[in-house]
Amino acid sequence: MTVAKPLPHDAAKLHVTGAARYIDDIPTPEGTLHLAFGTATIACGQITAMDLSGVRAADGVVAVLTADDLPFANDVSPSAHDEPLLATGEVHYLGQPVFLVVADSHLNARKAARLGQIAYTERQPILTIEEALAADSLFEDGPRIWTKGDVDPALAAAPHRIAGQIDMGGQEHFYLEGQAALCLPQEGGDMVVQSSTQHPTEIQHKVADALGVPMHAVRCEVRRMGGGFGGKESQGNALAVACAVAARRTGYACKMRYDRDDDMMITGKRHDFRIAYDAGYDADGKLLAVDFTQMTRCGWAMDLSLPVADRAMLHADNAYHLPHVRITSHRLRTNMQSATAFRGFGGPQGVLGIERVMDHIAAELGIDPVIVRQRNYYARMGIGGLSAPRATRPPEDISGHKKQSGTELDRKMDLDPSPPQQTPYNMPVTDFILDELTVSLLTRSDYHARRARIAGWNAKEPILKKGIAFSPVKFGISFTLTHLNQAGALVHVYQDGSVHMNHGGTEMGQGLFQKVAQVAAHRFGIDTAQVKITATDTAKVPNTSATAASSGSDLNGMAVANACDIIRDRIAVCLAQLHQTKPDDIRFENGDVHIGTRTISFAQAAQTAYQNRISLSATGFYKTPDLAWDRIKGEGTPFFYFAQGAAVTEVVIDTLTGENRILRTDIVHDAGASLNPALDIGQIEGGYVQGAGWLTTEELVWDDSGRLRTHAPSTYKIPACSDRPDIFNVALWDAPNPAQTIYRSKAVGEPPFMLGISAFLALSDAVSACGPHYPDLQAPATAEEILNAIDRARG
Ligand code: MTE
Ligand code: MOS
Repeated sequence: MTVAKPLPHDAAKLHVTGAARYIDDIPTPEGTLHLAFGTATIACGQITAMDLSGVRAADGVVAVLTADDLPFANDVSPSAHDEPLLATGEVHYLGQPVFLVVADSHLNARKAARLGQIAYTERQPILTIEEALAADSLFEDGPRIWTKGDVDPALAAAPHRIAGQIDMGGQEHFYLEGQAALCLPQEGGDMVVQSSTQHPTEIQHKVADALGVPMHAVRCEVRRMGGGFGGKESQGNALAVACAVAARRTGYACKMRYDRDDDMMITGKRHDFRIAYDAGYDADGKLLAVDFTQMTRCGWAMDLSLPVADRAMLHADNAYHLPHVRITSHRLRTNMQSATAFRGFGGPQGVLGIERVMDHIAAELGIDPVIVRQRNYYARMGIGGLSAPRATRPPEDISGHKKQSGTELDRKMDLDPSPPQQTPYNMPVTDFILDELTVSLLTRSDYHARRARIAGWNAKEPILKKGIAFSPVKFGISFTLTHLNQAGALVHVYQDGSVHMNHGGTEMGQGLFQKVAQVAAHRFGIDTAQVKITATDTAKVPNTSATAASSGSDLNGMAVANACDIIRDRIAVCLAQLHQTKPDDIRFENGDVHIGTRTISFAQAAQTAYQNRISLSATGFYKTPDLAWDRIKGEGTPFFYFAQGAAVTEVVIDTLTGENRILRTDIVHDAGASLNPALDIGQIEGGYVQGAGWLTTEELVWDDSGRLRTHAPSTYKIPACSDRPDIFNVALWDAPNPAQTIYRSKAVGEPPFMLGISAFLALSDAVSACGPHYPDLQAPATAEEILNAIDRARG
């Protein structure tokens, strides 16, 4: 089997030797020009005058453009057309691009960009949640509210009740490769765009609109990104459009890359949230009703804020059955960078809300927080207590065509008449494995014994306090905008049996290309070395969705399998005819093709098919089945399935300084029947550390004028290698996905991010050891916040 093998990332050697090519490494033609934005120095107001003579006179400057110089659409928004490339008089945040400098070098462009003289009439910016609520500064007409059951009576009748709120900060993506684009003008006004983007089709679309040409005149290519994490779903539009406009105007290739400070000042980040809760529960800690109010600062433009805020609501339950629930979501328009997609896409924020409630209940009742969680888990469709459905991996069951049947799970589901529990949005939870996965993790991590040991340690150690915490994740897989759940592929087989593979997904380090190459190799029964991985290209596969929502391998794996199967079946029919047998008797295995008792190589088969004038090229297509979702009502089946996992984290804090370390982390994560266990474990480790970083050291600070004060690694602290857990055990829960995904695998890109929540809860647990009160830890739990929380715990 080529799938399921723990093969290294296809570009691993290139990455570590520095030979992997990113946008900035692409050799550029003679005379290539370089771009930089001149940006607003206030957060809110009107431009009254602009003197750019100093900019024009600066060394190496070739052109300076303002909004008035743009020939066609001045719009880089992925959604509501509310995001001009260059400000049109109104300024909405400090850092907003106002004019564009085109110069002979990157440095000259940046230097000149600082010489603009802009006069404004300033207005009071809307920055905080309170200010935005007071000013009714919202996207959409009002808050979005989803309700299930009778929340108020259930709250009133509950024997116990708590209320509280948690603030959680945003997060800078800190992709290692900053945003970058390169545009190469072609004959007849066509444009080739090289972009560091998760969404080549949108780049193509935006560039076409800005140039006033049809999409067919623009081709966008992406070989790889040096990380995207959601920050390159929409935020690359501005650079690509700027380069295209400048290239069209000057006739030269144009390149733009943001310096790290510019990147942090200009581009959007994770949405910060405040989540207030009012919860009723019984003496066992079982939630009876909960009322959530989610408030999120979306920044100045809509970007992807509505679906991000929706996903936060969709994950307000995480792994728990909420009998009566109301979720109110305020999407606040503020004078800051326009917050955007970031790994988890609002999910982590929603999950942290309910995890805080679980923790708070456990603290009030004095019950182990794991037990409170287990008591609130979704029921497992009447099959609880039996062993996990370890059906054997169905080797050829890859598509929706053949239904897997006869597994233990199918039989149990057939036997069980009781209806599954439903999420707050009325989706039945049919595939819930966290009960069992939790038991397995608690055993592996020796949770209960360690918890007792930690209590002993804390009782005798006055300065260093330890904490331990468990947290699960259940993450919905699919784009909630249903039509995005489609993918295309283009596969060629050459006469020598080598394969050229292309699909609409982009590579950002997650290993998508390798996984999909393994699928292609497997379909043809050949080695992955025979499959050439090629750059994403809008001219090869059109109308693609962003590589996002963790669906890259689900969607593109299926599309590529479809294309390969079309070619394979054509070869089989051809060979069957020649050898007077049935196509079903032809098998593709280990680089060979078996025709009855005869064996030829795959290369010979390809050569034969070619000579018999059989097309060895095919497109493939896939769309996720069974999705139906009404986002206004908050009802339906937005997800194909759920990916699940859980973590136990142990930390130690220094109660004098607030400094802390992660001592040990154990994770069991469900990647279905993994397409590549090595890559999946890498995703889990990376996701966990990035999630822990979000909730601990990564702090974004805006001052009262709306200036982001943390815009470089000197002031914004992402986890370093040395911050990873001292002991880090990651295991896969290797059971096939009951949903019919590619080789029964599950998406893995985002879900493990939420396991970082266990680090935050462990810090809260350590702080709790300092005093009798619930410490009400806020995120990020920086050293400073930990000291404050210690004071609160002591009372
Ligand atoms: N892993 C790496 N190394 N770099 C990234 O930029 N992005 C994450 C995740 N893992 C990312 C990553 C995000 S936000 C998503 S949605 C998925 O990868 C996208 O890829 P996939 O759909 O192929 O999993
Ligand atoms: Mo990921 S936030 O869906 O790019």
